[in-house]
Amino acid sequence: MFDLKGYLKNKGSIVESVLDTLLSNGTSHSLLSSMNYSLKAGGKRIRPILVMASRDMLLKEDVKDGSAYHEVMPLVCAMEMIHTYSLIHDDLPAMDNDDLRRGKPTNHKVYGDAVAILAGDALLTEAFRVLCRLSQHHSAEKVIEVIRYISKASGMNGMVGGQVLDIENDTVHGVTPDLEYLYKTSYCKTGELIKASVASPAILYGNVDDIKSLEEYGKAIGVAFQMVDDVLGVTATKEELGKSAHIDEKNNKKTFVDLLGVDGTKDLAKREVEKAKTAVLRYGEFAQPLISIADYIIKRSH
Ligand code: IPE
Ligand code: IPE
Ligand code: MG
Ligand code: MG
Repeated sequence: MFDLKGYLKNKGSIVESVLDTLLSNGTSHSLLSSMNYSLKAGGKRIRPILVMASRDMLLKEDVKDGSAYHEVMPLVCAMEMIHTYSLIHDDLPAMDNDDLRRGKPTNHKVYGDAVAILAGDALLTEAFRVLCRLSQHHSAEKVIEVIRYISKASGMNGMVGGQVLDIENDTVHGVTPDLEYLYKTSYCKTGELIKASVASPAILYGNVDDIKSLEEYGKAIGVAFQMVDDVLGVTATKEELGKSAHIDEKNNKKTFVDLLGVDGTKDLAKREVEKAKTAVLRYGEFAQPLISIADYIIKRSH
């Protein structure tokens, strides 16, 4: 039986040790401190773990030692940097106005709105500088394609676009979302980065069919991940989540739970997870980590 807990712990600790020393000097002490505050605050590290799991599946390797990831580490770090920037901005008063993240006061509560905005900007920009380091180990063509792919996933037609759909979903903007609107929002705001984490390693180590299968997997677990986030937002406590509960209700935002209820949303998430698992079946035993991660997406408690 595959030991997912041990797997996540092992891969998570590889991520932690790299992030620990990633940003160590900066022009402004408060900026560097604010960036590291959120980057090192923990979190599940799902996106960087997906990069590693995808790489291992494509190379048919069962890796125990972190040094094996040397060639893909810039991608591992960049995905977590972009995700962390998105969380800092997501919590700002102009967006979700949240005061707790990863078990700690949100970035703007500690550093103020201005530095928090700039820390997010800098994490995003630095992520692309870090990605350029891939060229020490991979061809320029592949590195440019990875950068194109990740910038598309993060930008106006990806995560940022999804965040805008999300903020327009409230009583002030007058959007009453249907299922289609929520799907589109979730694919973009959450699914795109998750999809990019799992599919971009195929640019380095696979072919177009690998990219297609991993995109299918990533999109499906991405939307399931957001469905579960919506469920946990109403069923878990802030202590369990390390972030505020009931924040969508507070912000008058409709979620999958409003449309389908807790059980209906969980059922839909399960269906998406089955789709994801089917997309990677052809990789046989090497797909085991990705299959277990897909199951974990719906079983997680925070
Ligand atoms: C939270 O992401 C934001 C969403 C996209 C739902 P995670 O649940 O992965 O947050 P961390 O990284 O573990 O804090
Ligand atoms: C977060 O969505 C998605 C991004 C930051 C891109 P939410 O606003 O639903 O996530 P949480 O609940 O604050 O983590
Ligand atoms: Mg939000
Ligand atoms: Mg939020």
